[in-house]
Amino acid sequence: MIPRRIARNRILAPLTTYGIGGEAQFFAEPASMEEMAWVYSFARIEGLPVHVLGGGSNLLVADSGVSGIVMRLDSSAFGGIEPDPAHPLIWRVGAAATLASVVEKAARAGLAGIECLAGIPGRIGGAAVMNAGGAETGIGRIVAAVQGLDASGKPFVMDAAALRFGYRSSALTPGMTVLSLTLCFLGQEDPAVVIDRTRSFRERKRAAQPMGAHSAGCVFKNPAGRSAGALLDAAGCKGMREGGAEVSAVHANFIVNTGGASSADVVRLAARMREAVRAAHGVSLEPEIRIWGDEPGLKELGM
Ligand code: FAD
Ligand code: EPU
Repeated sequence: MIPRRIARNRILAPLTTYGIGGEAQFFAEPASMEEMAWVYSFARIEGLPVHVLGGGSNLLVADSGVSGIVMRLDSSAFGGIEPDPAHPLIWRVGAAATLASVVEKAARAGLAGIECLAGIPGRIGGAAVMNAGGAETGIGRIVAAVQGLDASGKPFVMDAAALRFGYRSSALTPGMTVLSLTLCFLGQEDPAVVIDRTRSFRERKRAAQPMGAHSAGCVFKNPAGRSAGALLDAAGCKGMREGGAEVSAVHANFIVNTGGASSADVVRLAARMREAVRAAHGVSLEPEIRIWGDEPGLKELGM
């Protein structure tokens, strides 16, 4: 029997910023820890994997969909932002809180350390998994601990050392569910100063990236010491197209869904971009976006 609040065949495209993707075999949006426990026990009984969906802003879902259970963290039950009354620099933040709301609230409190993430979409749980941030630094620098569930639904707590944050990477691997983060800010300043820095990070991002378009941010990681965007641009990728997918004219490391793009279009275009950079510069780019489901052509992407 399928438990209440677990649905079959939910189309995932509207839940991603690309606006692309087929159905989840099963889909759940638990509104409490008890409901999340049902999802885990259903997964265990049926032998299905659980894929956790945050804001869907770093994700390409295959046209053929995803088997297993997609569990979306959206409920306010998982999105609280709680300053520690005893430690002014420490907050506990639920995984479903939007990154934007945490950045704004921290700025208003004059807390430093997260302002460089201004303008990045998605949820705080997804930001921790990806160590989201700029080319140099990510949210990991202010994450003191992560509380979550392992693949069998057993609670875990990982401290900063165990989390092994690296460039767009962490020890938070598929199968784990991030429930909350303990953030330790770098310091407290005049809120006006932090608000100003936050605004300037957001404005720089808006000027350099196609923020209003349907994308998943940068498709490829930067190779050590270089910018993938600059390499793709110099290789002539801007404007390249496959079906409804196009390399942004604003930033060459963004693929934009101009309307009706399929995941196959995105994968074909990304493979051409990667090949163009390999031919022009002898560099093999590594994908940054996560891909769910089976999409022909992933080998050409080095995945
Ligand atoms: P999702 O896309 O939902 O998921 C990403 C991965 O994390 C998946 O593997 C998913 O299973 C996992 N995951 C998500 N939530 C959880 C959870 N609670 N528990 C366990 N696993 C989870 N990224 C940057 O780093 N820097 C940028 O400057 C940047 N700019 C962007 C600009 C635009 C316009 C867009 C669309 C994207 C941009 N991104 C950027 C990419 C993206 O916003 C970040 O990676 C973001 O942190 C992903 O969070 P999410 O909640 O959307 O994760
Ligand atoms: N550039 C070009 N052409 C382009 C794009 C960039 O010549 O089409 C040049 C720029 O002029 C600049 C250099 O490349 O001289 C670097 O560009 P930018 O400052 O935009 O930074 P980036 O290295 O391309 C990284 C992150 C972004 C993050 C920005 C700002 C990666 C893969 N990208 O981009 O993160 O927003 O720094 O901090 O690490 C993401 O991860 O999804 C993402 C968007």
